Amino acid sequence: MTDIQINASRRYTVKIGAGLLTHTGELASGLIKGRNAVIVSDSNVFPLYGETVRQSLEAAGFSVGAFVFPAGEGSKNTDTLVALLNRLAELRPDRSDAIFALGGGVTGDMAGLAAALYLRGIACIQLPTTLLAMVDSSVGGKTAVNLSAGKNLVGVFSQPRLVLCDTDCLQTLPEAVYAEGWAEIIKAAMIKSRPLADFLLKSSPGENIERVIAACVEIKRDVVDADEFDTGVRQILNFGHTVGHAIELLGDYRYFHGEAVALGMRIMARACCALGTCEPECLSVLETLLNKYKLPTVCDMDAGALLEAAQRDKKRSAGGITLVLPVRVGECTLKKTGFDELGTLLRLGLSS
Ligand SMILES: NC(=O)c1ccc[n+]([C@@H]2O[C@H](COP(=O)([O-])OP(=O)(O)OC[C@H]3O[C@@H](n4cnc5c(N)ncnc54)[C@H](O)[C@@H]3O)[C@@H](O)[C@H]2O)c1
Ligand SMILES: [Zn+2]
Repeated sequence: MTDIQINASRRYTVKIGAGLLTHTGELASGLIKGRNAVIVSDSNVFPLYGETVRQSLEAAGFSVGAFVFPAGEGSKNTDTLVALLNRLAELRPDRSDAIFALGGGVTGDMAGLAAALYLRGIACIQLPTTLLAMVDSSVGGKTAVNLSAGKNLVGVFSQPRLVLCDTDCLQTLPEAVYAEGWAEIIKAAMIKSRPLADFLLKSSPGENIERVIAACVEIKRDVVDADEFDTGVRQILNFGHTVGHAIELLGDYRYFHGEAVALGMRIMARACCALGTCEPECLSVLETLLNKYKLPTVCDMDAGALLEAAQRDKKRSAGGITLVLPVRVGECTLKKTGFDELGTLLRLGLSS
């Protein structure tokens, strides 16, 4: 088991290891004074792991209620959020009690937001069950739901009290959902960690997953500690995402998020190599890793159409955009620039 300490506006521990969900109650009981627990989960995850968490909480003296919503990004909206808040009002946890977010990023983002809002804030314990949620969304305190106008438009920064990454949960993940997590792991290596990239190159996929998750959580910890409220260096975590979001939008969401980010990272790396600002080895390592983790590398979209989609996606950020540009394996820089430069990079990154 690995413990990682996060020192954001609230200090908390991220624990990573096999079988952690069976210890939820004992691990939470020292942190939470009250004895009412509300499990928030989706319709896929609750039948798999809800009972384990409930039993563990009950054994530690908690009385347990639950809110289960239909799985999928389509549920991450204000309707489900309000239904969850109404369920909390029925179950009546008070400020000394806690919400347990059991699921992927959708559950974690929405339950985290509900916990921050209900009674002006009750504790949230994150129990991430997807690889993406373990390496990315459960750590760092961003919570949100979507509006029809766009993703994650309603949210707050609110750090959890504890994060338990039970690696046993990964065994039941559908392959496509598992691959999503690898895109973010490769991203973490490319922006901050040559040693992680080297480990991913030489190990077989899934080998020593606890160490891989821990490396990603440490990278996220360092970035969040430096810029919790996302006004500067935290934007480094968006490597591949500006173009990735444009690919998602233009493809009408036929690409999964992780696939779109994979393509976005490669387009930026190719463009920067063509400009001579990125080491060629960086592109070859990225391509090797994307192939190894079964992520796409070839994008058949047109540079002009992608630029237009990126402009639509970013229409709320007045003025320019901040691009994350790879320099070498483990190092990227941020550049505030205009859409004309993104257009140039897209043309370079997509040309064969
Ligand atoms: N807060 C942040 O910093 C942050 C960062 C990245 C992404 N996100 C958000 O995370 C979301 C994506 O997260 P996700 O990919 O985990 O999506 P998700 O929560 O929808 O989970 C993906 C699918 O896997 C299923 N599932 C989850 N765990 C399972 C398990 N152990 N076994 C079997 N099935 C399981 C879910 O029911 C769902 O169908 C997006 O909404 C995104 O905006 C947030
Ligand atoms: Zn992402």
